[in-house]
Amino acid sequence: MNSDTHSWAVGGPVTSPFARPAGVLGRLAGRFMLWTNKQDDVLDLLDVQPGDAVLEIGYGPGALVRLLSARTGAAQIRGVDPSPEMRRAASRTNRAAVREGRVVLGLGTAAETGEAGGSADRVVCVNNVALWPDLEAGVREVHRVLRPGGQAVIAWHGGSAPGRIARSLCLPEEQLERIEEALRGLFSAVERRQLRSLVAFTAVR
Ligand SMILES: C[S@@+](CC[C@H](N)C(=O)[O-])C[C@H]1O[C@@H](n2cnc3c(N)ncnc32)[C@H](O)[C@@H]1O
Repeated sequence: MNSDTHSWAVGGPVTSPFARPAGVLGRLAGRFMLWTNKQDDVLDLLDVQPGDAVLEIGYGPGALVRLLSARTGAAQIRGVDPSPEMRRAASRTNRAAVREGRVVLGLGTAAETGEAGGSADRVVCVNNVALWPDLEAGVREVHRVLRPGGQAVIAWHGGSAPGRIARSLCLPEEQLERIEEALRGLFSAVERRQLRSLVAFTAVR
């Protein structure tokens, strides 16, 4: 697994405990994200159908995995994140579902998920696309793991009513366009949506 913390958006390394949570600060960052990141609108956009296999890239402390598991009829929710600290946190957040095998949380990155090609009906990434070392490699991997007709949602801080933190992390328009272009190169029906505190791209393989 590539453990590079270089960000294509920053054009250099990112050292924030939110970017690659580790140690005490990483644990605190995880708790903060679990407490603050309410992602119900992502769930609506993802439109999971009964029996679907869902992959989340960069699950952090596992708040969205918990929503997916409680509120959708997904048959299986799998996740990859490069942070062992977040794997522990998300496993705690989703203890029962992990024990039952409905939720499987692994280590991996957007560019190297380790998932089988065409295995996911839905792929979702929230607040980590700007942390990927190589945007295009991540988008290629999302395309590879989705089945034909499957849908991806890639979301980042922004939206119609972003809070202070989301406002400070918004990407400039040219970087949002670069994400859109990378998606348009491989997917169909690419759209940009403004959620409350996220800008989200939807794309169909
Ligand atoms: C700001 S947190 C967001 C966590 C979660 N998605 C949320 O919204 O609460 C960023 C997460 O992305 C993960 N991450 C960092 N680099 C990544 C990469 N190249 N591929 C996938 N995930 C990555 C980090 O380990 C961290 O858990």
